[in-house]
Amino acid sequence: MATKILNHNLISHKLTIMRDRNTKTYIFKQNLDEIAMLMAYEVTRDIPVKNKEIETPICPMVGKEMSKDVILVPILRAGIGLVDGFRTIIPNAKIGHIGMARDEETLLPVEYYAKFPSGIDKARVIVLDPMLATGGSANAVLDVIKQRGAKDIQLVCLVGAPEGLRAVEEAHPDVDVYLGTLDERLNEKGYIVPGLGDAGDRLFGTD
Ligand code: PRP
Ligand code: URA
Repeated sequence: MATKILNHNLISHKLTIMRDRNTKTYIFKQNLDEIAMLMAYEVTRDIPVKNKEIETPICPMVGKEMSKDVILVPILRAGIGLVDGFRTIIPNAKIGHIGMARDEETLLPVEYYAKFPSGIDKARVIVLDPMLATGGSANAVLDVIKQRGAKDIQLVCLVGAPEGLRAVEEAHPDVDVYLGTLDERLNEKGYIVPGLGDAGDRLFGTD
């Protein structure tokens, strides 16, 4: 397993806009779309490829084509916000959905929906969620997709807390974790500090 914290200056710039409490919903989403594309570029760096013989207008050559299906798995709700950007970069990706809501008292995740494309056992599976706080939701989703046969798994979160990263590293040492940035800590309500607040509420304008 590898953990990669991107700390990309352009992501930091766009994330600062998202963190600002005065940023409106549509600007929040626009910046999340742009960050998702930047993260998709990094996350797919090692995507499996095979040789492909083609002819350019000049001569024959052996190029490359993707050799594995990609399945994106956004964790509902907030993970939906990363799908458009990833699909722009990987248009042939299939999408699985899993609904996981954190109980605000216990902070434990509760699953309420799951539907996946076939072939999850052979695909590169990229789990998407803007926030990795206690790690409870991500760990529960990783358990579910592994039960369904997923083996080649990446977890992609925009903002992580050290507590959540440790929890995922301990429970799923075979999963590669990509974070846009690692924040300081969790507060007493399980929110990431400084964070950006409740990602789902900010993305969908609920409160
Ligand atoms: C948020 C976020 C993650 C989870 C992170 O979702 O999108 O899924 O909390 O917290 P954890 O690491 O402590 O589990 P939430 O449960 O608030 O649901 P929502 O996306 O519907 O707002
Ligand atoms: N979920 C969020 O949306 N934000 C946090 O800071 C923690 C969990």
